[in-house]
This record gives sequence, C-alpha cells and structure tokens, in this order.
Amino acid sequence: MDADALDGVAAARAEYAAGGLVEDDLLPDPVSMFRRWYDDAHAAGLHEPNAMVVATVSTDLAPSARLVLLKGVSDDGFVFYTNTGSRKGRELAGNPRCALLFPWHPLERQVRVDGTATLLSRDAVDAYFAVRPRGSQLGAWASHQSSVVSGREELAAAYDEAQARYADGDVPTPEEWGGYLVTPESVEFWQGRPGRMHDRLVYRRTADGWRTERLAP
Ligand SMILES: Cc1cc2nc3c(=O)[nH]c(=O)nc-3n(C[C@H](O)[C@H](O)[C@H](O)COP(=O)(O)O)c2cc1C
Repeated sequence: MDADALDGVAAARAEYAAGGLVEDDLLPDPVSMFRRWYDDAHAAGLHEPNAMVVATVSTDLAPSARLVLLKGVSDDGFVFYTNTGSRKGRELAGNPRCALLFPWHPLERQVRVDGTATLLSRDAVDAYFAVRPRGSQLGAWASHQSSVVSGREELAAAYDEAQARYADGDVPTPEEWGGYLVTPESVEFWQGRPGRMHDRLVYRRTADGWRTERLAP
C-alpha cells in the first residue's frame, strides 16, 4: 500500500554542508567529545539541546521512545530523571539496555548512545528533586506517569491535594520518582555531508578504554 504523501515531505531534502568530522577531530573519550558537541549546540542557540530521545525495549521486545531532558553528564555516563513507575521505568526494570539520541538538526549532527541504565542513589535523586521548581515537585506527586486518568479534572484534583498536603513546607521526593545513569557501550557522532556521504565515527568500549571506527553513511 502506498503511503499518502504529506505536503512537501517526499520532496523535502536538505543538502548537508555545515561541516565535517574526521578521525583527527576525535577526543580520547566519547564523553569529552559529547561535551564539545554539546557546547557547540548550546552556543548555536539550539532550543533545548539537552532534549534527547530515550528508547527502551519491553521484556516482550516491543520498543518505545520518548523525549527526556539530559540533566547531567560525567565520565560515568548520561543522567536523566523520571518516574520509575512509568512505561520507560517499567521497561528499564525488565531490560536496562537502552538507547539515547540527540537530534541536533540545525548543526546537521546527531549523537547516538547505546548503553545500560542503572538507578541513581536516593541521595542523588533527593538532591536533584530538591532544586526543581515547586510546581514541578507538586506535579510529580500528582502524576503517576503513564497511568490512565479519567480526565484533566482528576490530575488537577491530585495537584491541589499535593499543594494542600505540603502547604508551605518542603515537598519530599515521591517514592516512585527517580533517575537513571546510562553507562555507554558505544557513542556515535554523525555529521551530515554533501551527497549523503555523511561522517559517522563511533566509539566502542573495550576492556582497556575506547576504540573508534568509521561507519558507512
Ligand atoms: C522536550 C521534552 C522533555 C521532556 N523531559 C522529560 C523528562 O526529563 N523526564 C520525564 O519523565 N519526561 C519528560 N518528558 C515527557 C516524556 O516525553 C514522556 O511523555 C513521559 O516521560 C512518559 O513516557 P513513558 O510513558 O514512555 O514512560 C519530556 C517531553 C518533552 C517533549
């Protein structure tokens, strides 16, 4: 069956010429390299350059993906926060292997991370939760993320209830709220080039560090 064309979609085709990525550009480890590209994305004024697609897979092998904000990066990997009872949380509990994708279109770049997620410590989660805006803290109490609700009213009532419960006091971290560290196994840096001859350089973890390879575009 032919798919109906969206206006202009079939013809939409950009020629990528913003830059190139060669082996000599690579830093010794993928996190340093990520920081360099992240800084470029930030400096270029991209909207939410820390928004990344997080892909997970259920125990019956169905993939799912959603946008999440990157909230930290260190030599250990990439950190995000979410509700551990959500769909992604349940899928990660059954299968911690996941993928991250940073789609930095205006720079004609993407970064892909394959890795394994582990739960952050309660202390780390509490420390982050404590500095979130109060509205977000209350929202975390009001939303059992990914569960079905009867309507907007139910959510509003739960929010009001949380607001009343904590009045002017500190809002504690909900039990079901948490964060993950994604430890990378491989990190690919993709730069668009003319004629679809894109650059794809990937770091792969080895027993004693990282090796890099070039992939065909
Ligand atoms: C730009 C953007 C940033 C988001 N950041 C987060 C986030 O940091 N944590 C989170 O739990 N959900 C975030 N969301 C909402 C998720 O995309 C998703 O709707 C939610 O986490 C439930 O996903 P799940 O049912 O697959 O678990 C964000 C959505 C957008 C569009």
